[in-house]
Amino acid sequence: MKKIAIFASGSGSNAENIIQYFAQKPQFCVKSVFCNVPDAYVLERAKKYRIPTFVFNREEFRNPDKVFRQLQIDFIVLAGFLWLMPSFITAAWPNKIVNIHPALLPAYGGKGMYGHHVHEAVIAAGEKESGITIHYVNDHYDQGAIIFQAKCPVLPTDTPDDLAARVHELEYRHFPRVIEDTLKKL
Ligand code: GRF
Repeated sequence: MKKIAIFASGSGSNAENIIQYFAQKPQFCVKSVFCNVPDAYVLERAKKYRIPTFVFNREEFRNPDKVFRQLQIDFIVLAGFLWLMPSFITAAWPNKIVNIHPALLPAYGGKGMYGHHVHEAVIAAGEKESGITIHYVNDHYDQGAIIFQAKCPVLPTDTPDDLAARVHELEYRHFPRVIEDTLKKL
């Protein structure tokens, strides 16, 4: 059985969608949810499915002996996780960490480009299309090799919330399946 850890910092709707998807697949198991925000809603979602949660601070995150001692997992999924992964983690899980970004990388990526900041920038630039990018994680924000992209329109009347909702739909539809396909290739 392939064991998955999810890292998230916020609401965790993608995390919950992934948990539900793999609950139906006996070859895979979401083992744990890691979170850097003590009151993030993703922790409530994980508890609903009885998935162990681990909350950590910056010092613990950077200390290989602390948070990650118990991390006996095959694959890491970043689903709205806002900190850069330390290189001891990217080195230990080469091509086994994936992230989802709510735009078409390489555009609208990098440090500070997360959540509504991304959608505001896409709308301000007058883009006609946005979408999602699922990519491997390396030591730089949003720069790992791209695994999958899907597009959606940006409408002239869109607010950042409208666009976020359309992008979230794409995330729910594609992210779990792309994780599964990537895991099967390991
Ligand atoms: C998603 O849009 C994802 O692309 C980005 O952060 C957002 C997380 O949303 N990295 P949620 O917490 O899964 O609802």
